[in-house]
Amino acid sequence: MKRKVTKAIFPVAGQGTRFLPATKAVPKEIMTLVDRPLIQYAIDEARAAGIKEFIFVTSRGKSALEDYFDHAPQLEQSLRKKGKTELLDTLKSTNMDSGAIAYIRQHQALGLGHAVWCARRLIANEPFAVILPDDVIAAEKPCLQQMVEAYEETGGSMVAAMEVPQDKTSSYGVLDVKDDMGSLVSVNGMVEKPAAADAPSNLAVIGRYILTPTVLQNLNKMKSGAGGEIQLTDAIAQELTEGRDVFGMRFRGQRFDCGSKAGFLQATVAFGLARDDLRDEFMGFLDEMSALRAAAQ
Ligand code: G1P
Repeated sequence: MKRKVTKAIFPVAGQGTRFLPATKAVPKEIMTLVDRPLIQYAIDEARAAGIKEFIFVTSRGKSALEDYFDHAPQLEQSLRKKGKTELLDTLKSTNMDSGAIAYIRQHQALGLGHAVWCARRLIANEPFAVILPDDVIAAEKPCLQQMVEAYEETGGSMVAAMEVPQDKTSSYGVLDVKDDMGSLVSVNGMVEKPAAADAPSNLAVIGRYILTPTVLQNLNKMKSGAGGEIQLTDAIAQELTEGRDVFGMRFRGQRFDCGSKAGFLQATVAFGLARDDLRDEFMGFLDEMSALRAAAQ
């Protein structure tokens, strides 16, 4: 029987320079999509997939994240007094069990693989998930849950995967596909950020992983790879050379790259339109905007 996946690592040490000046004072994971910080979407997805322990790999300047996950008893009390039960419920839905969150510092920005390796002692010898909060995925069944269900059948390691335009492969880890079974593919190899001409396919890794603990051992030995950084992709590819399986899963859902400004704006529109309390007013505004644009052309 395969072990259940109950631990997830959230690499949140990046400085978010693409969002300066906002990220001068606010970690990018606290930036809000509609009314919830990015990190809340990642946490909710992890909870839905059965994750019980949440490990944040942080860096200097990220203390707002720790504050965010504290309970807020005074605020709760004042909302209760005022009878604002709906807001109170929203607030309480962000509360985490005591001891469920751990914070580890990544002291040097040596890459995603290094960030994950920093959490190795908290993972020990269990399969674990990794969620990159920049990748926000709107889905009926949350992406990590889809993966956990598939993983229960396959074992091995698994990455979320999505077709991208060939000229965008240099922004992603890219899969070399061995056997394409539809929603699942088995993998021969993985390359981090290949030039379009060298990419083994256009099936890209998206920021959701379920990994066997041997990946952490591989990371012990990893030298710097693409961009001079220690790459998680390389440590997963190492699994294949040691005879262990790696799968890609084409998830059902829409992914937004909230690490880029355009992606963040697109996510804001999509999540705004998905909200019953905002849809009509927001849609009216968008219609007005496109009519104005059309008239100006
Ligand atoms: C990271 C991974 C890459 C993956 C991407 C998905 O890259 O290294 O393999 O395809 O996330 O968003 P980053 O975007 O952090 O450069």
